[in-house]
Amino acid sequence: AGMQTRLLATGPDTTAVAGSAPALHILYGSQTGNAESVAEDTAAAARGHGFTPTVYALDDVDLDRFPALGRVLIVTSTYGEGEMPDNAELFWDALSAESAPRLEGMDFAVLALGDTGYDGFCQAGKLIDMRLEQLGAQRIVPRVDCDADYEDVAATWIAETLPLVAAVEGIHGDATAAPAPARAKSQWNRKNPFPATVTVNRLLSGDGSGKEIRHYEFDLAGSGLEYEAGDALNVVPVNDSELVRALLDTLGLDGTVVPAGHERTLTELLTYSYEITAPNIDLLEEVEKRTRNEELTYVLRHGDKSALDDWLWGRDILDVLRLEPTPELAAEEFLSLLKPLQHRAYSISSSPYATEQSVHLTVAAVRYGTDGRERRGVCSTFLADRVGENGTAGVFVTKNKAFRVPVDDTAPMIMVGPGTGIAPFRGFLQERRARGATGRNWLFFGDQRRACDYVYEDELTEFVESGVLTRLDLAFSRDQAEKIYVQTRMKEHGAELFAWLEDGGHFYICGDASRMAKDVDRALHEIIAEHGGLSEDAAAAYVTGLKREKRYVRDVY
Ligand code: 2AM
Repeated sequence: AGMQTRLLATGPDTTAVAGSAPALHILYGSQTGNAESVAEDTAAAARGHGFTPTVYALDDVDLDRFPALGRVLIVTSTYGEGEMPDNAELFWDALSAESAPRLEGMDFAVLALGDTGYDGFCQAGKLIDMRLEQLGAQRIVPRVDCDADYEDVAATWIAETLPLVAAVEGIHGDATAAPAPARAKSQWNRKNPFPATVTVNRLLSGDGSGKEIRHYEFDLAGSGLEYEAGDALNVVPVNDSELVRALLDTLGLDGTVVPAGHERTLTELLTYSYEITAPNIDLLEEVEKRTRNEELTYVLRHGDKSALDDWLWGRDILDVLRLEPTPELAAEEFLSLLKPLQHRAYSISSSPYATEQSVHLTVAAVRYGTDGRERRGVCSTFLADRVGENGTAGVFVTKNKAFRVPVDDTAPMIMVGPGTGIAPFRGFLQERRARGATGRNWLFFGDQRRACDYVYEDELTEFVESGVLTRLDLAFSRDQAEKIYVQTRMKEHGAELFAWLEDGGHFYICGDASRMAKDVDRALHEIIAEHGGLSEDAAAAYVTGLKREKRYVRDVY
């Protein structure tokens, strides 16, 4: 615990400046940058309410000094199935520990970001909110939980919370005068995405691959859109018209009708406005209620969560509606059981310094078939099939300031990115080259088979030949009898990897969160223990140190 309460030079300043606007500490836990961006919006609005706001990641807060912050607004997302985001993990370890300080005298409010499509909805925010209360802190307003379309709810939370905070502080500003955001925001966002032309749509994976990995280039000319390597490009998909027709046919609904309370036809609504693939629990419950389909009744009433998950695996909304008997649903009822269509975030695979006015993505098109019907990933096949080449897609950028090449151009970088996890590292390598960075770069890449899955082989070879990539280690899992994974290669070169870390190396992981990132993390611990001559605990402390110094960051999904 000693390490968790280490004093950080970068932490929020708790010293009040007499006579100046009162401080307001806004803390965030963010995995992909959304919560950080809401925290910054909160700060901009706080300025308008007469505060001097500061914005920090939760992990930058030393728990010993936390009580002295007095009043905090916390915006946190939840990552994976109910986990803390990477930059809130250390804070939570300390806060949830028995040794956590009492927090009487503190005021707080929590805004939780989450996604009802995952287990543990807003879990990180809920835990922090509950724990702060337990420790004696005063809640200013009840916690607000946001689903995937968080923007409006977050804006309302900001607008309603700040006047209350100001009232506590005794500032009586004009709460009706909406403060102008102090930071220039891109005009392009979820509600108003930039219509970018897709100038390149190229298949990267080869014949015989189990995957369809594609390279896309989006023209940003004239948009004013800016990004950095490590950011995400959000794509607003358009649904598959074949699937829309199949849903209408199954329900016996007329797509040309404008449903009550809506302004567009049912076909348009299903095409542009709603998620029409993943069944959510409300839809399942309603269909079960109306059909009493035995199978559905069984998994909903008698199975546990994992039985339901197993049953849902590979099934989409159309599968559910095609159960016997077909549910009778009016257009309005059907729509009320669907979620609003969401944009999809992809890790950008280019650097703006290497690509004039364009942004690149590396995306696996998701297709799978059971019983002869091909199910298609909403956005990945929108890009692959429906945008095609020279079509347009609505896009906007999300900043991910935590995921960046080192500020220090001489620092070594170790990147682990199998499969499409290579995406941001292609951008990082372009960026290091463009900056003339002299630091060494090491990439671990892999996939199933070298012959068909070695994406960007020419470019990686060139990076090696030109010296930008100091080391490239490949792990093709299915080219031999035994599995060789990226972490196998890491361990083979453990001594050298540890030496790079000792030289101030930054360690990055991108790709599969559920298995790969966890196994790579385990391998990292083992390498540090073995080559650093450290106990398990000491190796864990070493890794915590890397996280504290922001030299261990992940972009995992
Ligand atoms: P596999 O499918 O042959 O088991 C990209 O998907 C690559 O990641 C594939 O080579 C895949 O191997 C591999 N992979 C699967 N599980 C993994 C794990 N737990 N750790 C690292 N790589 C893994």
